[in-house]
Amino acid sequence: MEILAHDILIVGAGLAGLRATISAAETSNKIDIAVISKLHPIRSHSVCAQGGTAAVMNEKDSFDLHAYDTVKGADFLADQDVVEFFVRQAPKEIILLEHWGLPWSRTPEGKIDQRPFGGHSFPRACFAADMTGFYEMHTLYGKAITYENVKFYDEFFATSLIVENNAVAGLTAIDLKTGELVAFKAKAIVMATGGHERIYEFTTFSHPSTGDGMAMAYRAGAPLEDMEFVQFHPTGLVPSGVLITEGARGEGGYLINALGERFMQRYAPKMMELAPRDVVARAEQKEINEGRGFTGPYGPYIALDLTHLGEEKINERLPLIRDVAKRLGGVDPVKEPIPVRPAAHYSMGGIKANIRTETPIRGLYAAGECACYSLHGANRLGTNSTAECLVFGGVAGEEAAKYAMSTNFQEFSKERVIAEEKRIYDGILGREGDERVPQLREEMRKIMDKKVGIFRVENELKSALKEIRDIKERFRNIRVEDKSKTFNTGLTTALELDFMLDLAEVTIISALARTESRGAHSRLDYPERDDKNWLVHTLAYYTVDGPKLDYIPVTITKWQPAARKY
Ligand code: FUM
Repeated sequence: MEILAHDILIVGAGLAGLRATISAAETSNKIDIAVISKLHPIRSHSVCAQGGTAAVMNEKDSFDLHAYDTVKGADFLADQDVVEFFVRQAPKEIILLEHWGLPWSRTPEGKIDQRPFGGHSFPRACFAADMTGFYEMHTLYGKAITYENVKFYDEFFATSLIVENNAVAGLTAIDLKTGELVAFKAKAIVMATGGHERIYEFTTFSHPSTGDGMAMAYRAGAPLEDMEFVQFHPTGLVPSGVLITEGARGEGGYLINALGERFMQRYAPKMMELAPRDVVARAEQKEINEGRGFTGPYGPYIALDLTHLGEEKINERLPLIRDVAKRLGGVDPVKEPIPVRPAAHYSMGGIKANIRTETPIRGLYAAGECACYSLHGANRLGTNSTAECLVFGGVAGEEAAKYAMSTNFQEFSKERVIAEEKRIYDGILGREGDERVPQLREEMRKIMDKKVGIFRVENELKSALKEIRDIKERFRNIRVEDKSKTFNTGLTTALELDFMLDLAEVTIISALARTESRGAHSRLDYPERDDKNWLVHTLAYYTVDGPKLDYIPVTITKWQPAARKY
């Protein structure tokens, strides 16, 4: 078996991973950096980010306003020191990307344009039409490949972290082209593997978003924080779930029920369709549950009406979603409303990290959606995520580089890698059972959609937990039909399902324990926010008997919890 060594490994090549790569390379040209990605970087899910990147760029806006919007949007569960740091850094990232060649959309005067977005009290989403992630990714990738001390390992599937004495020593990965397991030694590792929304069936997320990095860190001993908070985006295209950007509402789109009402009037009379996502998604679901949704062949839905915006504006500002609505929804938004409903979109939870992206495991850093430094609390505002990937990707790269320069490689035993080889090739690929991965995966996703969705209640969460644990048992009895080595997607989807089942279990256990409603976690049996008992972050630790929970306080700097009205 091959053992490779690099000072820093960056796992994941989406926005956070690429930004971390550039930042590490800029910190020192003496360190040796490797980027490991199960996809070609430009196929990472970040490419799908549409609406924009939040930053204070206008003298009428302010850091305090952006910070307060974020804290209030988070239902006061965000760590406010992290939020204050974030809002100050975000504009610098916009300018960096500008200098690296990103074609931001412009005002008639030639300034970087900004559009309104949900929960933001000022138009602060910088955007490139409705393909912001696409342009950001191409800009970062173009920059990252210019460094001589950066090597990309595309199509390497990371399977486990190697940790010795609570410090990272390396990781194992399958080279998908050869099917061989490779061990990497590293002084520092940055996890930037994105979210795990593919545990749900109706989701805006791409198929590879299976939370591998979260699950690897969890199994290696790092706690997962606030995993009960899963965001549902109000406008997943029916029937595919593909994202229809909130930018469509930012540009003036309306949400309409089957009675023709702009129903947000009832739920958020001031901000209407641009209330934060948890508020809008709940409103839509309530309209549907109470029979005011449209009926269609794929179930009830809500209409997103852009027809009043006109063809010229839609073509200039929202060309991608026009194309997507036509191709995947069968409607032209210039002429008719788009059928939408809430879709799993973002994980506020992730690998516990501090403001410097350090995790409790020495030398392990986490950035972007797989991380939780408590920036988004119980509900993230739209466009704060791409900004987060840039800001904290940058922090992680620099911190990892500094750490790698100050430390030596940790030794690890060959037996550790042999055990992983056995787990994968004898254990998972070698199993000859009766169960099939696609079947188990579909069952998991249906359970999560049905019982761990927007509205939650104890008996459904308990039943979801039992069913997910049953699927975990049945996973021991799978058979992967394809036994070949090269690009064995049967094997990688089995490994992904194994990761996702752990994450589904943590999500449910964390949701069951939190007996209040806050942000995206809405318990019908505990409808009120309970600051006395629950102004705390959840930590879930891996044990062989299932997740063990603990709690830590929220950091409040300036803003005491208050009622959220929009
Ligand atoms: O609606 C959107 O464009 C999504 C943005 C986000 O999740 O930040």
